[in-house]
Amino acid sequence: MVIFMIFQTYRRKHRKNLPPGPWGLPILGCLPYLGRNAHLVLTRWAKTYGDVYSVRFGTVPVVVLNGFGVIREALVKHGADDQTCILVENYDRLLEERRHYTMRLFRIIGVGRKNLESAIFKPQLEVLMKDLTNMGGKATDIYPILRDSVANITLGIVFGFHLEHNDSQYEGILDTVHKMFELNAKLSIVNFVPFLEKLPLPRLKQFDEVSTRLVLQVIAWLKGQVSNHHEDSNHIKSFADSYKTDVLKYRGQKTNEKGPVRINNNETELYHPTQAIGQERNDNLDTIFSENQIISVAIDLIVAGFETVTTTLRWGCLYMAMYPEIQAKVQEEIDSNLGDRNPNITDKGTLPYTEATIMEIQRLNCVTPLAVPHSTTKDVEFRGYTIPKDTMVLVNLWSVMTDPVCWPNPEKFDPQRHLNERGRTIRHDVFTPFSLGKRSCVGAPLARMELFLFFTFLMQKFTFRLPNGASAPVFEEGTLASTLTPPAHQLCVVSRGKKT
Ligand code: HEM
Repeated sequence: MVIFMIFQTYRRKHRKNLPPGPWGLPILGCLPYLGRNAHLVLTRWAKTYGDVYSVRFGTVPVVVLNGFGVIREALVKHGADDQTCILVENYDRLLEERRHYTMRLFRIIGVGRKNLESAIFKPQLEVLMKDLTNMGGKATDIYPILRDSVANITLGIVFGFHLEHNDSQYEGILDTVHKMFELNAKLSIVNFVPFLEKLPLPRLKQFDEVSTRLVLQVIAWLKGQVSNHHEDSNHIKSFADSYKTDVLKYRGQKTNEKGPVRINNNETELYHPTQAIGQERNDNLDTIFSENQIISVAIDLIVAGFETVTTTLRWGCLYMAMYPEIQAKVQEEIDSNLGDRNPNITDKGTLPYTEATIMEIQRLNCVTPLAVPHSTTKDVEFRGYTIPKDTMVLVNLWSVMTDPVCWPNPEKFDPQRHLNERGRTIRHDVFTPFSLGKRSCVGAPLARMELFLFFTFLMQKFTFRLPNGASAPVFEEGTLASTLTPPAHQLCVVSRGKKT
């Protein structure tokens, strides 16, 4: 132990000017202290070591950023300047282009608009209503039902709304995604300690196999779409539609044209990444943005989109069962504004208390409390410390969402804190469930739409209750896997019937 301490002191001295932090154990560093809920431990350490501190995961140094001021400065100020970035690992122009591509596609597809809603949300919400009604108010774990609904919506967007559920390719993809989730939940800490991925764990091997299967299934589906290409002007655009038009044009342009590309017809306004970066196309375009990149965007949307939204809704239903008076207030607002009519996205403005409740669910159980691991792209001078190039940086969003200075009585579930004196919703700067800066959640517009439509619909049609005699689950028994999932629990879902 003495030798270890001397060695550590020597290493710290020679590791430039890293921020201070807990010592940790030989070889394992601080890993054994993190437990199932690393975000809680990391937030506690900030009280001892300050908002910027370093820990070792195994032998790897990691800088942890806490609190809104520090995180904003790191991700917005330093993140805006490519020369001194604190960004997600392997950040490069390709990733930036993928983000632009995704955002443009969301606009084409109609995320946040009514047509997307009637095409995909409405039929899916009907299925959800049938499934929950069939439970007959008995105590059940609603996770599989919510998960399937959210999965169907995301897959609907990526693969097309006209897809029948008995399509074997679709079923195959859904099945693979479920397996990925199951494995992911068991991998827990590996999700934010990337170097652990190198360990020869059987579960990691299985996860790799399932991920590869998903990639192959997505490629097979999208390529099939391109060869079956047909124009159907009445058909609402899905990712696959945009993809096939894009790829066909891309291929056509590639063989027929030289010089700048403008893939941009009036109807689909398909985006070419070189437009975004203000460059003219050149012959090595394949190395900048290719079909593979578009496929990666589809995979990103599937993997990043399902679990975050499902887990937030699970927390939401659980909170409503635990706080029946808040649930009743939400239902009253929905009933008096919508009656029995299904919610649509334009109702958001008329349901401020409902929106504030969703925000409070997102605040109090920030499902991605440590965001995605970032890293420095060069030596960074930050708050008096020197963080060397390629150091892993963890962004502790949990520390922001539970900061008592920003949120008085942070542990209290209180939607009112997101409303002003006139009862309108306020979006505080410190409300950051989707993180900040260049690598913040690219799916946020879709996530907000999904959360609003699902939650409002669930509150309109059902009342959520804890089973008789069941006590509320202890929240700290939740587990941080790829998202922060609630402890195992059952709920009684009671149909509210017609209100008119
Ligand atoms: C409640 C729902 C969601 C929450 C709380 C959430 C939160 C986050 C957070 C915190 C990050 C990391 C940002 C950072 O490291 O700074 C992220 C990244 C990302 N999210 Fe979400 N997300 C949600 C839903 C979605 C959905 C529905 C999609 C897409 C369908 C999506 C796609 C992505 C992608 C692709 C990234 C990586 C962005 C990049 O690499 O630049 N997310 N999300």
